[in-house]
Amino acid sequence: MIFALFGPPGSGKGTQAERVLENFPLGHISTGDLLRAERRAGTPLGIKAGEIMSRGQFVPDELVAELVRKEVERILGNNKGILFDGYPRNLAQLRWLDRMLAGLDRMLEFGITLDIDDERLIKRLTSRRVCEKCRRVYNLIFNPPRENSICDGCGGKLYQRTDDRQEAIENRLTDYHRQTQPVLDDLEERGKLERVKADRPIEIIHGEILSLLRGRTADSDKQ
Ligand code: AP5
Repeated sequence: MIFALFGPPGSGKGTQAERVLENFPLGHISTGDLLRAERRAGTPLGIKAGEIMSRGQFVPDELVAELVRKEVERILGNNKGILFDGYPRNLAQLRWLDRMLAGLDRMLEFGITLDIDDERLIKRLTSRRVCEKCRRVYNLIFNPPRENSICDGCGGKLYQRTDDRQEAIENRLTDYHRQTQPVLDDLEERGKLERVKADRPIEIIHGEILSLLRGRTADSDKQ
């Protein structure tokens, strides 16, 4: 199974991806996580991308493609399916991914988009905290850690992402509507898009995503 989770910043892609991976043996390609790892490692790509990300803008397609290709080849080489999270984010990335997967005799089978309005997202993003050690995601309002600023899982310190400031959030939302919406329209026209309402509790959304994935798996087993 190769599919993508879509949704505006803060809609819960990372939160849901983490839970899906507990149920399906898939490789996870989160371009945001890959870019942040490059930034932490101080690579030339990471330094360039880090400045752009802090402003809340998209990193150039060719830089992201380089990371995606490597991960796709590694995961398919291990005979696993793929969950894309935050990729493709514009039509050029969708076309490039379609061509790249076709060259490997595979395809992006479908997308699931998490639908939610912008006002709720701003509240979620400004109260998001991430563990600096294991990268687990919390929310001070909706999903708080047991102990203030400490990760429940590994005891690491929680921090706020540099792009979770009001101005960067506004840029991210504008880009999402302008550049990612056409990707969703394209997939919808091809009958490859499922919609899930994301203004509900995390576990309810997770249950609905699991049912969609189980339905898709059962359909492909019948073919
Ligand atoms: P990326 O890391 O992908 O960020 P994003 O798409 O903006 O999404 P987020 O990670 O902010 O949110 P999410 O949907 O994963 O929500 P989460 O689960 O954390 O990308 C970062 C940057 O990298 C981009 O801006 C860009 O610069 C660059 N980049 C990445 N991919 C790129 C690409 N393909 N091309 C070019 N540039 C690229 O949840 C958010 C908060 O809400 C958390 O606190 C969580 O606990 C809480 N929460 C989650 N679900 C719920 C719920 N149901 N109810 C209440 N709270 C909830």
